[in-house]
Amino acid sequence: MSTPDSRVVVCPGTFDPVTYGHLDVITRTSAMYDEVVVGVVNIPWRKGGTVFSAEERIGFIENAIRGVPNITVEAFSTLLVDFARLKGALAIVKGLRAISDFEYELEMNQLNHRQAPEIESVYLMASDKYSFISSSGVKELATFGGDIDDLVPGEVADALKERLGR
Ligand code: PNS
Repeated sequence: MSTPDSRVVVCPGTFDPVTYGHLDVITRTSAMYDEVVVGVVNIPWRKGGTVFSAEERIGFIENAIRGVPNITVEAFSTLLVDFARLKGALAIVKGLRAISDFEYELEMNQLNHRQAPEIESVYLMASDKYSFISSSGVKELATFGGDIDDLVPGEVADALKERLGR
């Protein structure tokens, strides 16, 4: 339950679709702050579009985090820092897997910091068992009939197989 003193953070992403790696970062974040708002990017033309609609992507996350009381999920289609300000967030929290993530995240960090110096960015290192998972890798596996059952929740695996499987 949010109060005026709550320490709120935003975990942002496209989540097309959410993976166990994302869910690991989101739940670990929820153990450190009072309230976590998962911000799902809803900009249909960005990066060539998404496989799943924002409503579907939100539903997958909500079903996966059901029972964790301090996590909510919302779409946004503004600058990330404007969404974070709207939510009263003190920080943006993201996961980092490899050096390749670091380069992209350093750029995003500097962009975001320039727009909103009062909002800190915090990075959690991916747990070793999830450090190789990416949404794009999971989609590629699903397209060609690979095994994705250990990488995403069951309903996401089913939806991926239905939408992308050949
Ligand atoms: O890698 P992702 O999941 O597509 O990341 C999305 C997001 C919003 C976390 C990342 O693009 C970011 O930090 N963007 C900052 C710049 C911004 O506000 N862009 C507009 C919304 S995408």
